[in-house]
Amino acid sequence: MGRLQDKIAIVTGAASGIGAATARRVAAEGALTVVADLNSDGAEAVAEELRAAGGSATAVTVDLGDADSVRAMVAAAVDRYGGLDVLHNNAAATHLAARQDLAVVEADPAVWDDTMRINLRGTMVAIQAAVPHLIARGGGSIVNTSSGSGLTGDLRNPAYGASKAALINLTQYVATQYGKQGVRCNAVAPGFIVTPASSGSAHGAIREAMLRHHLTPRLGRPEDVAAAVVFLASDESAFITGHTLRVDGGLLSHAPYVADLRNG
Ligand SMILES: NC(=O)c1ccc[n+]([C@@H]2O[C@H](COP(=O)([O-])OP(=O)(O)OC[C@H]3O[C@@H](n4cnc5c(N)ncnc54)[C@H](O)[C@@H]3O)[C@@H](O)[C@H]2O)c1
Repeated sequence: MGRLQDKIAIVTGAASGIGAATARRVAAEGALTVVADLNSDGAEAVAEELRAAGGSATAVTVDLGDADSVRAMVAAAVDRYGGLDVLHNNAAATHLAARQDLAVVEADPAVWDDTMRINLRGTMVAIQAAVPHLIARGGGSIVNTSSGSGLTGDLRNPAYGASKAALINLTQYVATQYGKQGVRCNAVAPGFIVTPASSGSAHGAIREAMLRHHLTPRLGRPEDVAAAVVFLASDESAFITGHTLRVDGGLLSHAPYVADLRNG
């Protein structure tokens, strides 16, 4: 019996990286899994993999930047499986963060708007569409993907960081407003996880600097985040809501000088 046995779960951004790893874990724990992504072929490939492994999975194409598309994703899950128990809002415009989300003074307002529309409004609309279905089944669990970038400043990605900080607050609002109806809402804040989106920084001097600042002997893997999401989605976390769980190998747990002193 899996920890999400027969639960109906949506994972967004599930064609790649952390979302794909989470869809695999969610399905392995027994959930009927909706693999949602803008990348239709990638979502179908992951769904096919889950079915081949003996799970039940359906690919759905969604654009988080389009509210109607987000509502249609939730409706498709409910139509296919008869309800909804778990919503994992993992997708983000990582392509904008990587290439166009620069220092504040140079920031392009259009990139700011697109980032907020996809990362923040898209997540809000998904929650808005999902909550009545969760309540209809006596409750459920929402897990939002924030980021360490939502907890600190950095040399780039101000729009991304602000959108991820806002998700931490939205998580608390949803937990506050629907908790009495059995809906829990938590967030994960990954640190530096090696995925297609972060692979450009996963070698050379940046990798070495990252490793120095981790308290673990290694950098993060998508499966590390997937394990935290399964915990927050399952009844094992039944008394936890409104919480943001850092999954970052201790990257933000230490005083800033620790890495320098350790090596010096
Ligand atoms: N990798 C890291 O180090 C790291 C750190 C902190 C937080 N995160 C967060 O984890 C989540 C997953 O990151 P990842 O590294 O796996 O990224 P990724 O780029 O590998 O995957 C993101 C997925 O989201 C999809 N997507 C992008 N725009 C979309 C849209 N408009 N509608 C629907 N789907 C869309 C992409 O097609 C892709 O499959 C993101 O929310 C990211 O911000 C990642």
